[in-house]
Amino acid sequence: MSDCLVVGGGIIGLSLAYELSRRGISVALVEQGEWGGQASSAAAGMLAPLKEFTAPGPMLDMGMESLALYPGWAHDLEECTSGDVQLSLEGLLTVALNDQEQELLEAKYQWQKESGHSVHWLVGKEIAEVEPMLTDKAQAAIYSPDEGHINNRLLLRALVTACRLQGVKLLSGCVVSGIAVKAGKVVGVDSSMGPLRAGHTVITSGAWAGIMLEMLGVSVPVRPVRGQIAAVSSVGIPLRTVIFGTTGYITPKKDGKIVIGATEDESGFQREVTLAGLASILNGVMPYVPALHAATFLEAWGGLRPATADRKPLLGPIPGWAGLSIAGGHFRNGILLSPITAKWMADYLEQGKTEQLTPFMPSRFLDN
Ligand code: GLY
Repeated sequence: MSDCLVVGGGIIGLSLAYELSRRGISVALVEQGEWGGQASSAAAGMLAPLKEFTAPGPMLDMGMESLALYPGWAHDLEECTSGDVQLSLEGLLTVALNDQEQELLEAKYQWQKESGHSVHWLVGKEIAEVEPMLTDKAQAAIYSPDEGHINNRLLLRALVTACRLQGVKLLSGCVVSGIAVKAGKVVGVDSSMGPLRAGHTVITSGAWAGIMLEMLGVSVPVRPVRGQIAAVSSVGIPLRTVIFGTTGYITPKKDGKIVIGATEDESGFQREVTLAGLASILNGVMPYVPALHAATFLEAWGGLRPATADRKPLLGPIPGWAGLSIAGGHFRNGILLSPITAKWMADYLEQGKTEQLTPFMPSRFLDN
């Protein structure tokens, strides 16, 4: 019996298990496939709250707080595992190619600046000074020098190693068949590896979280939204910054790849790459960096983002079920939001703190 059972071994489950074990809490972590084998390894590893969140509010605050945790989080993981997670906070450009895009972007820049965020408004040649590979058709850009990306696959590997070193009971290839309840309290799960019991159970199974909770007759609005994404070689394309346009993003990774993406399409639980998806990615990014026309194609893949009805995560207790919580629904930002999710959920599980979880409580969908 563990203090805590975490069900779902993607970036959220691994980060939570890591954080709990750092606090001396005994944890078992269950994953039906491979560690981080779904959306977490499919992601581009973007750490870009100012780009991703379109208005001030709890999502942006959460994203900024998580970004601020990243250097320490990555450093501790690298120390613990002797690995490199290739954290790169070297700046991001959000680019406008025409007047209409410029108007929208300038409005965004205004509130970001007024809120005190580290952003710069660049026009014409100023943009080329930051990123010479960008098209000369770029009219204006928001430059956010403190955003960036991480190698999410290395991050996942480091988290698995750190969890193992800290004594987390790691059960991959373990299929959950039911949620176990005793006297109205969730006491763990039943699984292909037998009964797993714990003082508290947390569902962290990404796009599958809804299916998991349906086992108790609890309906939370989590659905898969496919992201198709690709990688090309960076040879001959020495990009300095992440580039976001209205039709795509371009992320120069430290491993010699440029990750380009991404679609947002509804395909149920299918994560295959389609020709239409690939065409949409290529047409979406090439206008921003013309050199990409000559790039060597490496690979394309798909992942299933866990989307909630209001596109905010679900964090906290499941009403009516003592001993059961969820940390999920991170949609496009699971990698970015994993350190803060782990911290807030561990604060809740260890100390009962719910203040920070308030805007994200599952009760917003379940109380009625
Ligand atoms: N965070 C980028 C994406 O979901 O495509």
